[in-house]
Amino acid sequence: AIDPEFEQNREIVDEHEGHDVWGPVEEPDELGIHGTHVAVDFDLCIADGACLEDCPVDVFEWVDSPDHPESEIKADPAEEAQCIDCMLCVDVCPVDAIDVDAG
Ligand code: SF4
Ligand code: F3S
Ligand code: ZN
Repeated sequence: AIDPEFEQNREIVDEHEGHDVWGPVEEPDELGIHGTHVAVDFDLCIADGACLEDCPVDVFEWVDSPDHPESEIKADPAEEAQCIDCMLCVDVCPVDAIDVDAG
């Protein structure tokens, strides 16, 4: 499962579509965590798609992740600022790849 303490345990190494990327990143095998309020561990995501289907405000978008060992696409929290903290995505992800900081 995604580390709920990732903000303490990782460093921001990049920015993608307006959100932070938390390393380590070593493409194509290691992609890190995308987003901060809505954080998706790309190294855990298996492209199940439940988060895209269930998010009521369409926070997620597919991005390509060619040659990643778990999946060739990932759910990117492209619109994390729209999140209403309903926690549906956290509940439905089969590999617990998503952390939402509802604070
Ligand atoms: Fe979407 Fe709810 Fe997840 Fe926020 S917590 S990203 S609103 S499903
Ligand atoms: Fe990935 Fe979990 Fe969504 S596997 S596509 S983050 S439901
Ligand atoms: Zn991203």
